[in-house]
Amino acid sequence: MKKYKIAVIPGDGVGVEVINEGLKILNTIKEIHGGIDFEFKTFPWSCEYYLKTGKMMPKDGIKILSDFEAIYLGAVGFPGVPDHISLWGLLLPIRKEFDQYVNLRPVKLLKGIKGPLRTEKIDFVVVRENVEGEYSGTGGRLYQGTENEVAIQTAVFTRKGTERVMRYAFELAMKRNKNLISTTKSNALNYGMVFWDDIFNNLKNDYPEVETRTMHVDALSGYFLLHPENIDVVVASNLFGDILTDLGSAMQGSIGIAPGANINPEKKYPSMFEPVHGSAPDVAGKGIANPIGAIWTASMMLDHLGETDSAKLIMKALEKVTEEGIYLTKDVGGNSKTHEVGDAVNNKIKELAKNSW
Ligand code: NAD
Ligand code: IPM
Ligand code: MN
Repeated sequence: MKKYKIAVIPGDGVGVEVINEGLKILNTIKEIHGGIDFEFKTFPWSCEYYLKTGKMMPKDGIKILSDFEAIYLGAVGFPGVPDHISLWGLLLPIRKEFDQYVNLRPVKLLKGIKGPLRTEKIDFVVVRENVEGEYSGTGGRLYQGTENEVAIQTAVFTRKGTERVMRYAFELAMKRNKNLISTTKSNALNYGMVFWDDIFNNLKNDYPEVETRTMHVDALSGYFLLHPENIDVVVASNLFGDILTDLGSAMQGSIGIAPGANINPEKKYPSMFEPVHGSAPDVAGKGIANPIGAIWTASMMLDHLGETDSAKLIMKALEKVTEEGIYLTKDVGGNSKTHEVGDAVNNKIKELAKNSW
């Protein structure tokens, strides 16, 4: 029996609602598989926790999490606590401290889901640099409150940090359709992005089989909408990857569908699995959040842990449910509740497992 210790941080708003559904699915996998066990430990770290304790997580939060093989997180941030406090108090330190330098975000239109574009051929992956770049947290404010006030936010790109995420993207492209787009903005950002391009151009020589292209992020945004069928793997800096993947999530029909993994590829530290969306304060508490992103994210977590059959089973069940189109939440044109979609996927997993396991 293989046992995985998983830290669960539901967080805020719909984060709590969708993680519930993901856990339901993981417990079913455990039940029907028989050979794997999950030891879940839930941590209440959130904005509510902050309002009670003055902190988003305890002082030794990172140390506590380092004991786990993976972290399953909903969303962080809610009105009442400034976003820069909640995010820099929980989500961003976890990504950085555990050196989760790859943020893997698949953009794929699931069967049965109506996307906004004229093509349905949407199946690519964004590899987002996840611990440095524009999110280095370097800068400051001078002469605060005066008319001479200046704010500086510095993007920091290191050779090691840039090279390793690009290598990851090249390796991924090798396993997929051998096509990689590097996102740049070197026409305006004359240090960081020129450096980014130089490293990319050097690395190309190590992967002669991969067809490459460098595109400015503004042009690439348009390309996402007009020619997604030509995209296989995209590598992007932290901020560009963030923006592109929200665009990507819309191409999938809803941000409630998009999954994500914050990976430390060396497995030296735990990786963290969280859907792309946030706490959605406008729909939180209504039971109508789409749980598909969180369930897909759970599948990515199993894949990372090496449980590929279970990961595939979840995806197969998920796509059967979207294809049937009976249980869908409001954001994708249905009227089911969050738990009804979760139950539908859960039942589908059991049904599929009867036939194939
Ligand atoms: P958001 O992703 O929470 O919401 C954007 C829009 O998408 C809203 O209209 C919302 O209703 C909708 N939406 C999001 N998730 C959905 C779901 N599962 N089902 C159906 N609809 C869904 O983005 P925001 O409004 O910019 O941010 C809200 C809060 O969440 C902020 O505090 C922000 O900082 C935080 N946030 C956290 C994460 C994270 O923890 N990973 C990610 C993004 C935003
Ligand atoms: C995401 C979110 C975060 C990010 C925010 C909440 C800090 O938008 O995970 O995409 O920008 O990385
Ligand atoms: Mn984002």
